[in-house]
Amino acid sequence: MKTWLPPVFSLFSLFTTRAAVIVPGATWTDTSEAVIQAHGAGFLKVGSTYYWFGEDKSHNSALFKAVSCYTSSDLMTWSRQNDALSPISGTDISTSNIVERPKVIFNAQNSEYVMWFHSDSSDYGAAMVGVATATTPCGPYTYKASWKPLGADSRDMGLFVDDNSTAYLLYASDNNQNFKISRLTTDYHNVSEQVNVLSASTLEAPGIVKRNGVYYLFASHTSGWTPNPNKYFSTTSLSGTWSSQADIAPEAVRTYFSQNAYDFPLGSNAIYMGDRWRPSLLGSSRYMWFPLSWSSGSPQIVAADVWSVDLTAGTYTVAIGTTYEAEDGTINGSATIISDSAFSSGGGVGWLGHGGTVTISNVQGTGSPQWIALYYANGDSTWRNVTVSVNGGIDVYVDQPDTGGGHVILSVPVQLTLRSGLNSLTFGSNQTNYAGDLDKIIVYTAT
Ligand SMILES: *[C@@H]1O[C@H](CO)[C@@H](O)[C@H](O)[C@H]1NC(C)=O
Ligand SMILES: *[C@@H]1O[C@H](CO)[C@@H](O)[C@H](O)[C@H]1NC(C)=O
Ligand SMILES: *[C@@H]1O[C@H](CO)[C@@H](O)[C@H](O)[C@H]1NC(C)=O
Ligand SMILES: *[C@@H]1O[C@H](CO)[C@@H](O)[C@H](O)[C@H]1NC(C)=O
Ligand SMILES: *[C@@H]1O[C@H](CO)[C@@H](O)[C@H](O)[C@H]1NC(C)=O
Repeated sequence: MKTWLPPVFSLFSLFTTRAAVIVPGATWTDTSEAVIQAHGAGFLKVGSTYYWFGEDKSHNSALFKAVSCYTSSDLMTWSRQNDALSPISGTDISTSNIVERPKVIFNAQNSEYVMWFHSDSSDYGAAMVGVATATTPCGPYTYKASWKPLGADSRDMGLFVDDNSTAYLLYASDNNQNFKISRLTTDYHNVSEQVNVLSASTLEAPGIVKRNGVYYLFASHTSGWTPNPNKYFSTTSLSGTWSSQADIAPEAVRTYFSQNAYDFPLGSNAIYMGDRWRPSLLGSSRYMWFPLSWSSGSPQIVAADVWSVDLTAGTYTVAIGTTYEAEDGTINGSATIISDSAFSSGGGVGWLGHGGTVTISNVQGTGSPQWIALYYANGDSTWRNVTVSVNGGIDVYVDQPDTGGGHVILSVPVQLTLRSGLNSLTFGSNQTNYAGDLDKIIVYTAT
């Protein structure tokens, strides 16, 4: 049924703003409502504008399509610009090559933007870096070359620019066994000298944040597209000795099913910007950004479902929601209440889907779209999903990545419109496959 909207509402809609929250794992869209395609991200601030560079994987392939460029003033609302780098046939950046993890830095000496990326053959055998330059942040960039820095492998890589403008390449080298840091030439076009190597460290996906004179290196280990517990290391000199590795999140959650891509300084803290890779559907890989807080003395991910950032103040705010325990709902069919200390309040609901459902009643809604985080366990090695039906309405599917063996709990977001007042949410109806075990839901009002 079409409803006539009086002019006052049409006018009002001009003044409503897009969601100004960060929801890790949701399908992020740009200001034209297209899904943001900027994986393996790199960021750059020019004036008051933030630029997000990344891999366009909309063709669901690892092969090179484009390095996209998005702009924002708040890190939350992004507009797509022209592609920063496009394939060139007959070169190492053709559509049958790999271009990953683009990072852009500004070189003041030449007033030039310099993009570095992992440049490879389709079998990842070439293991090179590539460089391209431009006179504007989004370019388009002019491709210069791909090569092995100092003659050695370079696969996953990042860049770090120190306070004195000396820049460094951070890279997985020697068949991903040794992690290296090499100084760039003053024009940022090449590397000049290796300054450090973390031997036999098997690190990937690096980023560095400098805080109070201490360098923090964030990196994953090597498990392909599968997540692993990402780590941090610290040192007071990039050429010095690094601390032994330590966790940024409980090991079991495997960095909340993500891999580091970029680490963004935020006041006295930072933002962990990771990718939730989905190799069978690469363009549906999601962005997993979390506050990285030093409040405990070491950088730790704040597992926020919904949060926002104030770049001027250098602070973040984690939204508080209302929790509803799954085991307090009404089960039907084959659904079973599970007692396990891994679940909050010691219980959850299993055997959902394939005839099993749970209905959580008296869920307070606002009448507007709102974020709901589903906390679940999926002990398979593959993704599951669960349907959600609001007040008996059409089922919405929510993907549930595998959480690892045992009852490791992760959350996935879904945006639903509940009615203002009380609602019933049914999980697992109308699906033949089994859903993950549901621990609880948290309903947020922040939008
Ligand atoms: C910047 O600092 C590093 C580390 O102390 C040093 O190696 C480098 O020479 C410095 N560069 C400049 C341009 O001063
Ligand atoms: C980078 O520098 C090395 C010398 O260290 C040189 O052999 C190589 O050709 C340079 N690569 C590029 C693309 O300029
Ligand atoms: C409970 O399951 C039965 C079949 O097992 C079904 O007929 C009934 O509609 C279900 N009730 C609810 C509330 O989902
Ligand atoms: C839900 O997950 C199952 C695997 O458990 C898969 O076969 C199915 O295609 C998924 N459905 C949707 C709508 O994603
Ligand atoms: C149940 O699933 C079918 C097939 O996926 C779909 O067409 C139908 O709309 C679903 N029913 C509800 C109530 O969501």
